[in-house]
Amino acid sequence: MLKGKNVVLGVTGSIAAYKIADLASMLVKLHANVDVIMTQNAACFINPITFETLTKNRCLTDTFDRGDVSEVKHIAVAQRADVILIAPASANFIGKAAHGIADDMLSTTILAAGCPVLVSPAMNVNMFNNSAVQENLMILKRRGVTVIPPESGYLACGATGEGKLPDCRTLLGYILREIAREKDLLGKKILVTAGPTRESLDPVRFITNHSTGKMGYAVARQAMLRGAEVTLVTGPVGIDPPPFVKTVSIQSAQELFEAVTSRFEEQDCLIMTAAVADYTPLETKTEKIKKSGDGADLTLKLKRTVDVLKWLGEHKKEGQLVCGFSMETENMLENSKAKLEKKNADMIAANSLRDEGSGFGTDTNRLVLIKKDSVTDLPLLSKEDAADRLLDELFKSQKNGCRLKTKK
Ligand code: CTP
Repeated sequence: MLKGKNVVLGVTGSIAAYKIADLASMLVKLHANVDVIMTQNAACFINPITFETLTKNRCLTDTFDRGDVSEVKHIAVAQRADVILIAPASANFIGKAAHGIADDMLSTTILAAGCPVLVSPAMNVNMFNNSAVQENLMILKRRGVTVIPPESGYLACGATGEGKLPDCRTLLGYILREIAREKDLLGKKILVTAGPTRESLDPVRFITNHSTGKMGYAVARQAMLRGAEVTLVTGPVGIDPPPFVKTVSIQSAQELFEAVTSRFEEQDCLIMTAAVADYTPLETKTEKIKKSGDGADLTLKLKRTVDVLKWLGEHKKEGQLVCGFSMETENMLENSKAKLEKKNADMIAANSLRDEGSGFGTDTNRLVLIKKDSVTDLPLLSKEDAADRLLDELFKSQKNGCRLKTKK
């Protein structure tokens, strides 16, 4: 995911410094080239050898280190960086960065950098709330630096409150959003639905399906990484929603309908990945349904739910794109083409439950992307890659209209 990308991690003096070893390792596993720059105080909390072992790069601590005379290190590292993350960022370092003080390897590198800079403050709650620190953070924000809010919790100094370094997965999320993908969907508003719906029979039971939400979540995540403003309307699933995505939880098909249609106007694109129930109980009992004493079978009366995709197809306006999914067990192409037409969708992503590696709960999918005048047969791909190809195909005709985000 980060092949060919250069990430600079700036580590300053805070007890949370040791956590960055984990982040460095995650980045290396994603094939990024990682340079770690530590302040002298950071080296009191974690040994540079830890980072050197993980990144296979020299950990930079001293501006006047003559280890490599072929380049001026702080300039060279700053210039090749795609992103710089300062984590943990101490109050002292934030103050220096805000006021342009360049008295060590990390502060000089920041001044020489042209790439996005992320700052993740970590310190005692009173220090964090001190107006000096807050004003310095405001200065950095005004200059385009992204300040990652610290979390609240028990702090190493014994206090409880804001000042905790977010976990490494959160920090990684910020880095990925910045550099993982070209921002070719910047400015687009995309609503994705995912997961199953639950149709209540009584306070204890419901009717649902096997959808795990993986495909929809992958679509939402890839669209976010490509710069879109994403809303994810999700049924109950067991996976974490992607970061930087507005998540709306629903239970029933009717709730999904309301969540989607109330947000429909402002969207550029709607992608219906959810496995929406086609039928719901005619009546939801307020008390638990009891077994009949005579051993007779139970017959449930069901009524049709509203077809959300069809509604979207009927109400879409010029320029709005609507994409549906179609899971079939037989006659996939024929049935999916019929859905494209019947629901007036711009595209149907069809998959067959009979294909190995496709279907519920898998990490892969084999999609056939059906449009009015084309059928694109994709190979078996990870759900992330399949989601990317789906977005490529859906926005194909609009691609030239998208702005590309360039490096600062
Ligand atoms: N869909 C919807 N509202 C429903 C049912 C389905 O919006 N009440 C959407 C799904 O999210 C999917 C597409 O319609 O994007 C196709 O769903 P699918 O269940 O495969 O097709 P149906 O039209 O319901 O037809 P059938 O179940 O008969 O195959």
